[in-house]
Amino acid sequence: MTNNLKHKKFLVTSALPYANGPLHIGHLAGAYISADIYVRYLRLKGADVVYVCGSDENGAAITIRAKKEGLTPRDIVDKYHFLIKETFEKLGVSFDVYHRTSDPLHHKTAQDFFLTLVEKGGEFDVKSSEQYYDEAFDQFLADRYIKGTCPKCSYEEAYGDQCENCGSDLSPTELINPISTLSGNTPVLRETTHWYFRLDKHTEWLKDWVKDGQLRGKQHHNPAKWKKHVVGQILSWLDGDLRPRSITRDLDWGIPVPLEEGKGKVLYVWFDAPIGYISATKAWAEENGKNWEDYWKGDDTNLVHFIGKDNIVFHCIIFPAMLKAHGDFAEPKFALPVNVPANQFLNLQGNKLSTSRNFAVWAHEYLEDFKDLPNKEDALRYALIRNMPELKDSDFTWEGFQELHDSELVAKLGNFVNRVVNLTHKYYDGESPQFDGGNLKARSATEIVAYEAIIDLLKEKINTVGSFIENFDFRSAVREVIDIASVGNEILQHNEPWKVFKTDPEAVKPVIGASLQVAGVLSIVLQPFLPFTAAALRNILNLEPLENEQWDDLEDPASLVPGGHKINPPEYLFKTINDRKDKSRLELVEKEIAKLSSILEEKAKEEVKGTPVKPEATFEDFTKLDIRTGTILSAEKVEKADKLLKLLVDIGIEKRTVVSGIAKHHAPEAIIGQKVLLLANLAPRKIRGVFSEGMILMAEDADGKLAFVSPPEDFGDGFQVS
Ligand code: 2FM
Ligand code: ZN
Repeated sequence: MTNNLKHKKFLVTSALPYANGPLHIGHLAGAYISADIYVRYLRLKGADVVYVCGSDENGAAITIRAKKEGLTPRDIVDKYHFLIKETFEKLGVSFDVYHRTSDPLHHKTAQDFFLTLVEKGGEFDVKSSEQYYDEAFDQFLADRYIKGTCPKCSYEEAYGDQCENCGSDLSPTELINPISTLSGNTPVLRETTHWYFRLDKHTEWLKDWVKDGQLRGKQHHNPAKWKKHVVGQILSWLDGDLRPRSITRDLDWGIPVPLEEGKGKVLYVWFDAPIGYISATKAWAEENGKNWEDYWKGDDTNLVHFIGKDNIVFHCIIFPAMLKAHGDFAEPKFALPVNVPANQFLNLQGNKLSTSRNFAVWAHEYLEDFKDLPNKEDALRYALIRNMPELKDSDFTWEGFQELHDSELVAKLGNFVNRVVNLTHKYYDGESPQFDGGNLKARSATEIVAYEAIIDLLKEKINTVGSFIENFDFRSAVREVIDIASVGNEILQHNEPWKVFKTDPEAVKPVIGASLQVAGVLSIVLQPFLPFTAAALRNILNLEPLENEQWDDLEDPASLVPGGHKINPPEYLFKTINDRKDKSRLELVEKEIAKLSSILEEKAKEEVKGTPVKPEATFEDFTKLDIRTGTILSAEKVEKADKLLKLLVDIGIEKRTVVSGIAKHHAPEAIIGQKVLLLANLAPRKIRGVFSEGMILMAEDADGKLAFVSPPEDFGDGFQVS
């Protein structure tokens, strides 16, 4: 069952995007479309919800971009704030307020928050330490301004705060061979003072809160409702060593530390950004004559953060600790999130999104490139919802976009609406038929059910959609919505009104009547997911635009399109992309695929160029190697070693046992019979207790993908490579 959410207070947030570039589909699928579905549903259920967001305009992300574009940080945030805001609006992301962290209201809110914690005492250590300084530029270096070799994985381009290759959190002094990205010089260490938030003091209650949902001796939330990957990540942080975190920086862009002794320093962007949710709420409240505290403080408000997985530590450890610390001092207390349904990452065409390589789908470019695709906004929303990385990373492909669009939006949803609207016009002059119950077929071509049974089926499905949304399972929810359209299609298909009408027109009335109610249901349940489609459908059905609380109408799905109600003429909701007669829309998709492929090819070329040929070897060196053709006879996993396979390889003259580090790339059962090249005279050695007598030759690409180098299928075993 779904919950009664009427008048329940919700404060819903989406991660504040950095105003240092446009939005791409990874952002949208991560923290925005998901939140938008949720709040649209809450509003329809009559909840008292405020949905806040805004641009994250402080920190090194902005100053770095400004340097790159030769503009000031102010120019950069203005440029991208408005572009981002407009893109969200065009895609129907329905914030109640889209604020910005360069706003004076936010500066004051963040400074006051900081001062409250200072006044409370014990929440900060003020410490001097040595930090990297660029002498040529005469400034301390933000973590992101320092690059070097990752101490964990040896990646040479790791940043001072994080290695993008292995995901490790780093501090700049851990980097091997640090380089300032400003001057290219090796930075020097200089003494500077900073405020360190005593995160270490918060470990114990955070554990109770995350593991058991307990807060201040009360049940705060149900931890079973949190996503496993989110809880897992938080607990692994909490099991580690939570150390005091510096929350000030030596940077000339951001929110000044409001203390004499902090002159010239700013608050760290990750300290002020989440407070941005509070400032945004204040701005909204001021505009709307409300009290922001009603949504942030007290026991009756529900705070929900929508974010990507890279933001979990900030939203589930640091910000809650800040809010709790503040609340332990000043009444009323801030609420803590009741859930943080973070998403994982969205890949693109099987590869990681990369903004620096332009390997991304930029939302504003999509809207421009696909301007001739009817309902392009919902077409994109749909593909992103169906592929939402809710529990694990997922992949957006243009082929998938086209396929989902044509086979579900056009063939199921659009087709159903089109048919029922056309038939209503054909048989009843556009007026919903009047009838009293009746029998008809629905989900099966043979079973006849009462009209009421179809209404009950709809009720059940409506409830399922709601439950999925309340559990943050939007992929399942949208599939259920499309399945409601399938119910409509089946009613039409199995009852064949176009045949029956001539002989038994009375029997057709409940068929069209039921189908119209299905369309009425769709015009509501679609709204959280595809708001433009829902609005268009309500227009076709000649129903008023949706208002808050209108999910209530679904309690009686038989009354949505009343008998005698006049509907409007049909209009296409979507148009087939892969259309045999008109190739123009398919060409748009093909162009995108070609663009991304060429970026990948370019990347591969660069990477090959980046691997110079090794120092010269003599012919004698080469002839020392005895490389033979062979065939894999058997393969099995090596216990407790997830990278290793134990292979038995036939090299004609004998069979060799070889341990090979290919388990992540090749399943044992898939490589039986694989032709290989084997270095046969490599000194044998014991690997994980197994004696390995040779080495299989593999080629490795820049992404670490391993491919066999093999002779053709019909080539015999044991022949030498020369
Ligand atoms: O990771 C990011 O893009 C950050 N700008 C998110 C900030 S979320 C919040 F705390 F404001
Ligand atoms: Zn690394």
